Amino acid sequence: MEQYVIKGGNPLVGEVEIGGAKNAALAILSAAVMTDETVTIENVPNVRDTNVLLNAIEEIGARVERLDAHTVRINGSFIRDFNVDNEFIRKIRASYYLIGALLGKYKRAEVALPGGCNIGGRPIDLHMKGFRALGADVDIKYGLVRAYAEKLTGTHIYLDKVSVGATINIMMAASMAEGKTIIENAAKEPHVVDVANFLNSMGANIRGAGTDVIRIVGVEKLHATEYSIIPDQIEAGTFMLAAAATKGDVTVKNVIPKHLEAISAKLLEIGCEVEEFDDAVRVVASKPLRHTQVTTLPYPGFPTDMQPLLMALLTLAKGHCMISETVFEARFSQAEGLCRMGADIRIAGRRASVFGVERLFGAEVFAKDLRCGAALLCAA
Ligand code: UD1
Repeated sequence: MEQYVIKGGNPLVGEVEIGGAKNAALAILSAAVMTDETVTIENVPNVRDTNVLLNAIEEIGARVERLDAHTVRINGSFIRDFNVDNEFIRKIRASYYLIGALLGKYKRAEVALPGGCNIGGRPIDLHMKGFRALGADVDIKYGLVRAYAEKLTGTHIYLDKVSVGATINIMMAASMAEGKTIIENAAKEPHVVDVANFLNSMGANIRGAGTDVIRIVGVEKLHATEYSIIPDQIEAGTFMLAAAATKGDVTVKNVIPKHLEAISAKLLEIGCEVEEFDDAVRVVASKPLRHTQVTTLPYPGFPTDMQPLLMALLTLAKGHCMISETVFEARFSQAEGLCRMGADIRIAGRRASVFGVERLFGAEVFAKDLRCGAALLCAA
């Protein structure tokens, strides 16, 4: 098992450069196979999930060339296999984007049921509902999501719940459907916009990404493009909160400050200084932290992916903080480790009460999921 040994107590001071957004990259790498021409993608984060996805794309026949650690060239014209399944792809969440991509282009896809962090039920019913509305037969058998269509036809889709994955997946398939699709109650996250921009740069016709109504007019073919992925707002937020937790002074570079507003606002509220530049944010924490309330919500609300990190930070805030998690039902796994380190946290369903303590102490703790691990690192 991978371990980190951390000697805490030092303020973090300095500058850090943020990489490309993982959650945008996973969708964009999948969408890249939707053209038979060559696509070059820059600012791809070099992390496990993107590498697993690239290997899976290669396994079904696409040509994948890694030009450097963060640049990939993909050609999807050699794909002959529509079945994506291996022991690694089963573990990642974003394998589901290959359903939308392959279904859009080839009208068929068989993809291993998505895995991902254990933070609740994480169904994919909305993705399936969207594909069915476009005219596909979709079922789950033998551990695969299987989708087939004679043809896809544009339609009106209302998402019962705001879902990033379903919005992007339906948007991809609809890009190559016949006619016009309207997605209502769409997710507005920056990476939804990034994927739409990427598809549009390949010749798709998508309007309204970033609002809750997305309109897509299907096209027959997509073409070559060169595209650079947006910075990762969660990676940036992680460093911002780590600066605050260690009473540090960190400038987070290569970010889009607008995407970080919910995080900046919380930091200001609890007594940190946040300075915004064109493509950087500086966080200085010199005063004691004040208490706050936070509710996770889809963008532009406070991101659920930052909630574990914020909890780590608030263990040191003066007074009683209340955290409500409205997006995923089981996303307080970091609390156990934080309590081992001396935090005072009480959980009741989707709400957590955090009573500030003077300091945390080193302990052996276990990261149960990705953001839980980041929260524990931050606390440590
Ligand atoms: C993506 C991100 C994840 C982030 C989350 C919310 C990736 C790979 N992961 O996850 O880091 O925490 O967005 O910003 O991009 N839901 C359904 N049915 C569905 C789909 C979703 O009920 O078919 C529910 C989920 O259980 C959850 C909510 O909708 O309660 C939002 O989920 P969604 O936005 O789809 O998250 P993911 O795409 O899984």
